[in-house]
Amino acid sequence: MPKPAPASPPEAPKDCPLCPRLHGFIAANRLAHPDWFNGAVPSFGEASGRLLIVGLAPGLQGANRTGRPFTGDYAGDLLYSTLDKFGLSTGTFKARPDDGLKLKDAMITNAVRCVPPENKPTGAEILTCRPFLISRIGAMPKLKVLLALGRIAHDSTVRALGGKPSANVFGHARRHVLEGPNGPLILHDSYHCSRYNTNTGRLTEEMFHNVFAGMRKDLDG
Ligand code: URA
Repeated sequence: MPKPAPASPPEAPKDCPLCPRLHGFIAANRLAHPDWFNGAVPSFGEASGRLLIVGLAPGLQGANRTGRPFTGDYAGDLLYSTLDKFGLSTGTFKARPDDGLKLKDAMITNAVRCVPPENKPTGAEILTCRPFLISRIGAMPKLKVLLALGRIAHDSTVRALGGKPSANVFGHARRHVLEGPNGPLILHDSYHCSRYNTNTGRLTEEMFHNVFAGMRKDLDG
């Protein structure tokens, strides 16, 4: 069983030991791929930003390989092209952490910071990692808008803000108002921009762009 996390900094240490299963999975991947990042992936972007995007967890060959959220797998291609379209990044995304891309007014984090086997963190792992999300939110003094990518990210974000998922039910393109540490926060939901969701048509590029258009209005309004 993972250990309950004490009061946390906003970023997990790279060799975070709190979830034995994830720690062991990363250790095995380190042996197989010593040149990969293989650690708790830190959030990326501006802590002074007004937008925080919350993903699920690093992908094995994406963020766990490169060390930057959503970098190196398909989910990132749609996310970063959309950030660019809505003026939330500068530079060119080349799916490498040294591509020089910068986020503007935004940060990307994950509900679970370490790669889980089969992209499926357990409930206990999500709970154990939540203090980092709580601290991440608390360390963004200008935060106004959050985007949850998928239900797990949504539920963990709602709980991080002291809310109940039963009173704030996840749904694609839903918008919720919750109380944050420094005042009200607007939480937007989207289906996760995974290859599975886009290949099956559950999430189209247009649907994803529409969610960003709504967030842009909240940021600009
Ligand atoms: N990469 C991440 O960092 N998070 C996700 O949720 C998916 C891919």
